[in-house]
Amino acid sequence: MASSSTAPTTVAPTAAGPSLAPLHRDPDSLQVLVNKHRPVPAGWTAPDLVSAGVVGNRQGMLLRKPAAQALQGMVAAARADGIELILVSAHRTHDYQAGLYSNSIQRNGQAHADRYSARPGHSEHHTGLAADLAAADGTCTLQGCFADTPEGAWIAQHAVEHGFVVRYPQGSEPITGYGAEPWHLRFLGVDEARRVMEAGGIVETAWGAGPAPTYLP
Ligand code: DAL
Ligand code: ZN
Repeated sequence: MASSSTAPTTVAPTAAGPSLAPLHRDPDSLQVLVNKHRPVPAGWTAPDLVSAGVVGNRQGMLLRKPAAQALQGMVAAARADGIELILVSAHRTHDYQAGLYSNSIQRNGQAHADRYSARPGHSEHHTGLAADLAAADGTCTLQGCFADTPEGAWIAQHAVEHGFVVRYPQGSEPITGYGAEPWHLRFLGVDEARRVMEAGGIVETAWGAGPAPTYLP
């Protein structure tokens, strides 16, 4: 954990919100806030990236070590409940996100792209703390109907026990700036994930950050 994570102080009001603590501003912290108002720093790379270590739909996917270990535990717990989860996206570089964002614009136009794809620099996937999961049988992969699958329901119920939250829950778009993504999990650690869920399940609100529905000019 970054040393700043122990600092209890808050900082002056900014676009990020009135009381965002230093640990939510530190890109190396497991509790960093990344959204449409808060990109990761240019040239920054996530520390301690390791193999995600779970079955994925392609090779070589990376996560920060604590997130990878938690994901491995979660996938095993799901399997014990008869739920087979696979990883479909984990850490992303700036260039990779730029390609995804531009493809999304080409397919669906900019307004739709900005509801479902972060602009490069603004994706939580840059942190190595975000994981997109899907059902092993492929039902509703990266679609809203994933929430209604047994796999999506399992995640909604159990992710918090493993230190993850569904980062863009139904109804959070005015605050997070993204349409519901029942597949996109953000690792926070078990204690912080529980705190966020007890505060209503939206990271920005739980951390005292202002809403970030659109990019700043
Ligand atoms: N789909 C999420 C918002 C991302 O692109 O990071
Ligand atoms: Zn995602």
